[in-house]
Amino acid sequence: MTQANSNSDQGDILVVDDQPENIRFLSVMLADQGYAVRKSLSGQMALTAVRSLPPDLILLDVNMPDLDGYQVCQALQADPTTRDIPIIFLTAQGDTMDKVKAFQMGASDYVTKPFQFEEVLVRIRHQITIRQLQKQLKQQNTTLASTLEELKKAQAALVQREKMIGLGQLVAGVSHEINNPVSFISGNIGHVRQYAEDLIKLVQLYHQRYPEETPEIKQAIQEMDLEFVTSDLQDLLESMETGVNRIRSVVLALRIFSRLGESEIKEIDLHEALNSILVLLHHRLNPGGHYRIITVHRDYGEIPLLTCYASYFNQVLLNLLSNAIDALEVAQDQGLLVSEPPQIWITTSRTASDRVQISIRDNGIGISEALQQRLFDPFFTTKPPGQGLGLGLFNSYQVIVERHNGSLTCRSTPRVGSEFIVEVPLGRSGATVGQGQGLNPPVNPDPKSSDQDQAQ
Ligand SMILES: Nc1ncnc2c1ncn2[C@@H]1O[C@H](COP(=O)(O)OP(=O)(O)O)[C@@H](O)[C@H]1O
Ligand SMILES: [Mg+2]
Repeated sequence: MTQANSNSDQGDILVVDDQPENIRFLSVMLADQGYAVRKSLSGQMALTAVRSLPPDLILLDVNMPDLDGYQVCQALQADPTTRDIPIIFLTAQGDTMDKVKAFQMGASDYVTKPFQFEEVLVRIRHQITIRQLQKQLKQQNTTLASTLEELKKAQAALVQREKMIGLGQLVAGVSHEINNPVSFISGNIGHVRQYAEDLIKLVQLYHQRYPEETPEIKQAIQEMDLEFVTSDLQDLLESMETGVNRIRSVVLALRIFSRLGESEIKEIDLHEALNSILVLLHHRLNPGGHYRIITVHRDYGEIPLLTCYASYFNQVLLNLLSNAIDALEVAQDQGLLVSEPPQIWITTSRTASDRVQISIRDNGIGISEALQQRLFDPFFTTKPPGQGLGLGLFNSYQVIVERHNGSLTCRSTPRVGSEFIVEVPLGRSGATVGQGQGLNPPVNPDPKSSDQDQAQ
């Protein structure tokens, strides 16, 4: 076999024949037509040549010692990397060639020697054209498939974003509605307590002054158990106050969280945001039942206000914290965390004059190397159906990397724990709509519900 010496865009042809004069004739003529030609004098050499560099077409003599044309054809058909190369059989007139067998073996065409060179050329052109069209089609199919994949991702992100905005607005609305009645209940409890104390004092005063009770009064006192009511009233009011304060803090947290439910650029106090999310996750951090209380360590650095898409950013923090809690539950399900409590460490720091880093670390189940590669893929989840959509990290990645020009990375050791690190620019340079069109906030879809709806 010799390497072709002319580089051609017509195509690369391998001529296989045990007769050197046939090869010489064909290669001179084909080179003349602008083809790059390689030559093999035996079937074995042909297979080596094809495997080292697949040609666009093979002219294959049927009758050869050792490996004949059928066998070469069969070997090439068996290999997926060579099965698509068109093969034209060359056969001498006296040969008894089985055409049907040739086509069944995978030949694309055949010519009979002695041949007219023009005829060979036409057949070659046809085969090479078909081959090129097939290649193009394959290429287009691949492009199409990846476009479809992109489209699916974009759609998933869109659906999730819509849901987030919708949910944010709902939460903002509901918490606004709850806020007023809760405020007056909470404001009035103080008065109720005062009035109750006054009334009790008054009753006591009456009792001192007029110790002689009429029978009806005596009966009423007995029926209502005045002594018990007097002492219990105090307790009731206290627990009502605790309850109302709890509602107030949840409503406040909801309002901070969904503050501005829309996709608007805002300045937020990162620590206030984290604290309110922890309030919202209170029931998961302090579960009754068989999971243990999760200890949260907050190590907050000195950080100025962060300019970001507040509701998206909050959603990312909520995703990361929820995932950490999930991982701590799985760890407990698997019998880990026996000698140490489930814990989450939240650390914030300023990594440069204009960058901030938030780390959320847990001592949960951890993530294997293999799964770490797929964490940010859409719909990747290890949770049972119905529990996880597998969109949390995918969306978080889009929000941090694409919307805020930041980074979201993960470090994890299986059975030891995981750490997710968000890093974003502090100022406006971070929160952008996309390359180049950065600084304009998107249109607020619901102008009514923005600034006057601030918490507190
Ligand atoms: N802190 C973590 N510890 C262990 N595994 C995690 C952690 N965060 C995410 N994962 C893994 O990444 C997967 C994808 O997370 P996510 O995109 O939020 O989707 P989901 O929570 O709906 O499964 C989870 O199912 C889990 O396997
Ligand atoms: Mg999640």
